[in-house]
Amino acid sequence: MTPHNHAKPGDYAEAVLMPGDPLRAKWIAENFLDDARQVNSVRNCLGFTGSFKGKPVSVQASGMGQPSLSIYAHELINSYGVKTLIRVGTCGGLNAKVKVRDLVLAQAASTDSTLVRGRFGPYNFAPIADFGLLRAAVEKAEAAGLPWHAGNMLSSDVFYHENGFEGYDRLPQHGVIGVEMEAAALYTLAARFGVKALTICTMTDCLITGAEIDADARQTSLRDMVSLALEVAIEA
Ligand code: HPA
Repeated sequence: MTPHNHAKPGDYAEAVLMPGDPLRAKWIAENFLDDARQVNSVRNCLGFTGSFKGKPVSVQASGMGQPSLSIYAHELINSYGVKTLIRVGTCGGLNAKVKVRDLVLAQAASTDSTLVRGRFGPYNFAPIADFGLLRAAVEKAEAAGLPWHAGNMLSSDVFYHENGFEGYDRLPQHGVIGVEMEAAALYTLAARFGVKALTICTMTDCLITGAEIDADARQTSLRDMVSLALEVAIEA
């Protein structure tokens, strides 16, 4: 039990998928896991444990943004013994070569968040994905014929930027390919506690071209992304 999670010790598998949306966690549990049972409902930030291809796996919603994800990830690691955390979500595109529906594997995550910047004094820490998880995701995406890009993600604390795209210019100039709101804090916590983490996103809206995903494609892409994440999770 924690302030944000009433699951008992042992209720979570060692590998956990983390979507932002609690209803997406439920959808994953209902559509992909066998024998799924709900293990957390505090604040409706739902968590489930079941199995995928006979291997135990859990899914726990993170909520939106780095402070929210940090609470759930911290407690999964330190109170429930979770060893592998795979965020599954959506991102905005910052490079015209990344098309809507493409998978963006966050090899690294830049950020404007003080959650990362505040920790290291004069140093700029580079939050990175676990290499083994990243390699497995790339291999499986290739094998499944899914379009993927691995690169630097921006994890921003801000969704509605005051000057629109303006403030982001330097990041795409330096090879940042997508923007979401959680990966950098996840990677920093995983590094701090010696566990493995990866972020896999579907690109849903390109900030460069204005292209947006339609509802049908969103559903298909989310299915592909979740299947891929589960395949990676059970081998981690
Ligand atoms: N910004 C932040 N997070 C996102 C975006 C975005 O444009 N699109 C999908 N997730």
